[in-house]
Amino acid sequence: MELNITCIPGDGIGPEIVAEAKKVLDVLAKKYGHKINYTDILMGGASIDAYGVPLTEEAVQTAKSADAVLMGSIGGDTTTSPWYKLPPHLRPEAGLLSIRKALNLFANLRPAVLYEELAEACPLKKEISAAGFDMLIMRELTGGLYFGERKTVEENGIRKAIDTLTYDETEIRRIAVKGFEIAMKRKKKVTSVDKANVLDSSRLWRKVVEEVAAGYPEVTLEHMLVDNCAMQLVKDPAQFDVILTENMFGDILSDEASMVTGSIGMLASASLNDSRFGLYEPSHGSAPDIAGKDIANPIATILSASMMLRYSFDLDKEADEIDLAVKNVLKEGYRTADIMSDGCTLVGCKQMGDLLAGRIG
Ligand code: IPM
Ligand code: MG
Repeated sequence: MELNITCIPGDGIGPEIVAEAKKVLDVLAKKYGHKINYTDILMGGASIDAYGVPLTEEAVQTAKSADAVLMGSIGGDTTTSPWYKLPPHLRPEAGLLSIRKALNLFANLRPAVLYEELAEACPLKKEISAAGFDMLIMRELTGGLYFGERKTVEENGIRKAIDTLTYDETEIRRIAVKGFEIAMKRKKKVTSVDKANVLDSSRLWRKVVEEVAAGYPEVTLEHMLVDNCAMQLVKDPAQFDVILTENMFGDILSDEASMVTGSIGMLASASLNDSRFGLYEPSHGSAPDIAGKDIANPIATILSASMMLRYSFDLDKEADEIDLAVKNVLKEGYRTADIMSDGCTLVGCKQMGDLLAGRIG
């Protein structure tokens, strides 16, 4: 089959990790007789440097005309990079928010899995980590506080900033449906996270999620307040299957969930719209401090490429090959610096890519 993929190498370690993902995809394509056409676009700091804006309209059009987008990471050091002296709408992150909106990527899937081989990296107590965990955070990605009206004003000499949090029932329903659909393919449990004891948007969230749940009698639904969820993630992460939540709660909880795995360099993500189109990126950031040193972990991006094959192209067999190669290379004891432990073999970014490509080809 022919796969048209737009790549966003981005900033920091982005270009290095995307190069390794392409290496793995190319080996797979050769093995299974697929043809991949890549088109690169700039986003974030790289686009600011080239065009003065974090995302151009042409870049959006290129992405729209592809079947899927594979992204590295964007952004720089917020205290030292000149990008952060620009007004907020011209900073690197604004590019990411705009592409999510422009491509209607309302469903963000962030799996957080404790890899057996990396159990030692888990910062939780052994009694807790022994149970293992495998959860998926389904985060609403194009609504809520991050896209509401915002402004900073001065009233009687007092500066005041206003952000607005809005959700309508259609936005809640479509993400809830995605959450229940994916739960049907997993352990059939949805934990819907909100702040219904305070927020109107959360009370509507709860009602609509319950309406959607009525269509999925096999799925167990529970509601959890976001502050309690933050605690439960470190106390008993094994209780979760699908966590369904709004944009900001999902942003925060997904960082927490990835941290408890102890290996954020391993976690992939997919941002999907209503069709098969998606943007796939690692859950971690651009790590400008280690950029260009060939020490970054490319696995999260490679696993994001696997999610891309699965969700956008229905190439499950090829995706399984990537996932298995990752498991095997870890079993054989190869580690990048972020997941290194005693007795293992330290490898760089390129070497990790070569090892994984080698297991497939
Ligand atoms: C993420 C990031 C982004 C977000 C930032 C960079 C705008 O933190 O993907 O989680 O908050 O969505
Ligand atoms: Mg985040």
